[in-house]
Amino acid sequence: MNATLQNTLNAPRYRNDGTLVIQGGRPIHGTIKVRGAKNSVPKNMVAALLTEEITEIRSVADVRDVAIMAELVAAIGGQVTRNALDGSLTMDPRHIAPMSPDTAAHFSDISRIPILLCGPLLHRFGEAFIPNLGGCVIGARPIDFHLAALKQFGATLEERADGIYLTATHLRGARINLDFPSVGATEQVILTAVLAEGETELSNAAVEPEIMDLIGQLQKMGAQITVETDRVIRINGVKKLRGCVHVALPDRLEVASWACAAAATDGEIFVEGARHGDLFAFLNAYMRAGGDFEVTETGIWFRRSQQGLHPVCLETGVHPGFMTDWQQPFATMLTQAAGVSIIHETVYEGRFGYVHALNKMGANIALRTDCLGSRCRFGRLNHEHSAIISGPTPMQGSHIAIPDLRAGFSYVIAGLIANGTSHISNIGLIQRGYEFFNEKLTSLNVDFEITGRNNK
Ligand code: UD1
Repeated sequence: MNATLQNTLNAPRYRNDGTLVIQGGRPIHGTIKVRGAKNSVPKNMVAALLTEEITEIRSVADVRDVAIMAELVAAIGGQVTRNALDGSLTMDPRHIAPMSPDTAAHFSDISRIPILLCGPLLHRFGEAFIPNLGGCVIGARPIDFHLAALKQFGATLEERADGIYLTATHLRGARINLDFPSVGATEQVILTAVLAEGETELSNAAVEPEIMDLIGQLQKMGAQITVETDRVIRINGVKKLRGCVHVALPDRLEVASWACAAAATDGEIFVEGARHGDLFAFLNAYMRAGGDFEVTETGIWFRRSQQGLHPVCLETGVHPGFMTDWQQPFATMLTQAAGVSIIHETVYEGRFGYVHALNKMGANIALRTDCLGSRCRFGRLNHEHSAIISGPTPMQGSHIAIPDLRAGFSYVIAGLIANGTSHISNIGLIQRGYEFFNEKLTSLNVDFEITGRNNK
């Protein structure tokens, strides 16, 4: 069953509405499968625009961020064909054109991925218009590193009310240092440098598995990229790239989310497709907190250990540290650990907004502005970026509204733990990053229904 996306500007906007009504208080058991990562596949799709040949991306999850990117590529003239049966995505970028103002307006404020189109569009057309960015509201999320790097490559930028207009007659390799190892800025530099003239040296680069995956895809396309020690990535620009077949990286964020749900409810989940090598930091913390796991050839089992959940102190950080997107489901799991846990968030200054809803349901989480751990960028800035979680606390079903994607999953875990009925609104947001969400809840025997418009 193939679906080819053509110009979809008349398609309805993505909706976050719909309410998950969930009966909690029971362990969840069963098997679910993860496929290509939400934080990886859209970047694989951007990379595919660097060539005029066809690229096939396999094992792509049916999540909204991929659909938005497919629509965007189709809207600028590319052909994206999705095989719904095997999850492969074929991209034919031969006929793409610069983005028109109408197209940019349509994609304004719904995703952060368009910023990564700068390099590919500049290489192909000498100009790029990037709409205003969307994405989860978890901090200020500036793009200053991206813009500074693009200037270093030789691009000229003009910030307009509805986005950024860039031009470049010639992109040259550059020596770029990031003030913080930003994932997006690292991807920006790589995606621009691969076809720029000469060598680019990127220092203080992010080295997340999603970035290594992107580098792997680009190498298959003919790029020359070396990952050196101490966060240095060196790229020698080539004249042309070719298409390739790439199997998407399994979603390590989704794996960790379900792992936390299993231990939090004292259930057991087998996550088919989970890749052990991407989860070391998570599994270390999971074990310390009383989670138990077992790696098999096809996936990983997750459950609570017989000793029960223990409090832990941890801080989020860039890879190979404990990832910031693991923090929300992990904190929710820790509400059920006996004792006081501490989480220090060092990647985003505004990532604890969700705890108020958990407290409303019975959790005991206090937020602090000081660094409860090593000193970080946010310590002096009065951001509530440390959390003290006292547990275990019984939780009661409540009415809560999802503010962002990962917070959304933590509310689902809270609803699963809680006694009684929870009404979790904005459940459509979950579809940005968790595929077949309703089907997975069904296969885990969760007692739930979706009310409102979102029935996917
Ligand atoms: C990506 C992930 C997100 C994850 C994050 C960190 C995607 C689609 N999203 O987001 O899920 O939580 O990495 O692992 O892949 N910063 C600046 N200036 C910039 C860029 C970033 O100050 O120009 C700061 C940010 O405000 C933040 C930190 O750097 O405090 C990390 O952000 P970054 O790694 O860029 O996150 P994203 O790539 O947006």
